[in-house]
Amino acid sequence: MSVKLAHFSDIHLTARPLGWRVRDVFSKRTTGWVNVSLLGRGRRFRHANDVTAALRREFASRGFDQLVFSGDATTLAFPAEMTEAARRLGVGDPTLPPGIAVPGNHDLYVHRAVRDRVFEEAFAPWQEGLRVADEHYPFARKVGHVWLIALNSAKSNFWLWDATGRVGDAQLERFRALCAMIDSGPRIVVSHYPLLTHTYTPEPRWHRLRDWRKVRDLAAECGVGLWLHGHRHGWYVLPLAANLPFPTICAGSSTQTRRWGYHEYTIDAWHLKGLRRVYDLKTGNFLDSETFELELPGAA
Ligand SMILES: [Fe+2]
Ligand SMILES: [Fe+2]
Repeated sequence: MSVKLAHFSDIHLTARPLGWRVRDVFSKRTTGWVNVSLLGRGRRFRHANDVTAALRREFASRGFDQLVFSGDATTLAFPAEMTEAARRLGVGDPTLPPGIAVPGNHDLYVHRAVRDRVFEEAFAPWQEGLRVADEHYPFARKVGHVWLIALNSAKSNFWLWDATGRVGDAQLERFRALCAMIDSGPRIVVSHYPLLTHTYTPEPRWHRLRDWRKVRDLAAECGVGLWLHGHRHGWYVLPLAANLPFPTICAGSSTQTRRWGYHEYTIDAWHLKGLRRVYDLKTGNFLDSETFELELPGAA
């Protein structure tokens, strides 16, 4: 009983033309665009399309049972960016392994993107699973002996400096109900936001998951054995600690120049072997890098 997952995150693709409308000019998208175009964010992602193409070759060739995407497919959540990102990743391509995906804050950048379900429509084939009362999040999907639980921790934010996330009480109640519906086996949450940074402290006030304490405590109560996430663009692994009842893994950005990489997890019973594969600009392919191992808590 062994399961092999590919975990990637924060690809931040964009498209041309973006499809600007007058109302966008007076929204957060304008300052977001200034940040991307004039302040260098775009430069850090200038190879993102090539890296995504290499990633897709990995998906097709490395024998994964499931692809796991922890959000931030786009930059400003324009529908044109979202469909382009899903297309480049191969969402819905029957020759690739199945996928599971949650949105990041950049995929829900403005309220309209949330309302129009821009992410959920483009990533529909990666959003299939067991749900509570037909509400979209959370949903669970069994891969071999492992349960993957997609929890949405991202939301749209009005203020420019606000990059916070929230799971919210209603979704947490459904999370509790969902956990009661599924059978035993390692439970792995897939979400955009981290619970803690690499120093085991919460993220800065305007960047953090606001209800991280509540979420952490309920996840522990529900027998979660691992939290997979992105949002922070540098990768890190947190083993158990006094303030962290299960390990967490941040994939970092898979496409940002020099931070680029993704993770391969082989889960045998309750043991996880991780391999980080890093993009190589010279050859245009991913190469083996660090390895790590974790024992997932929660075994009966
Ligand atoms: Fe991101
Ligand atoms: Fe993010």
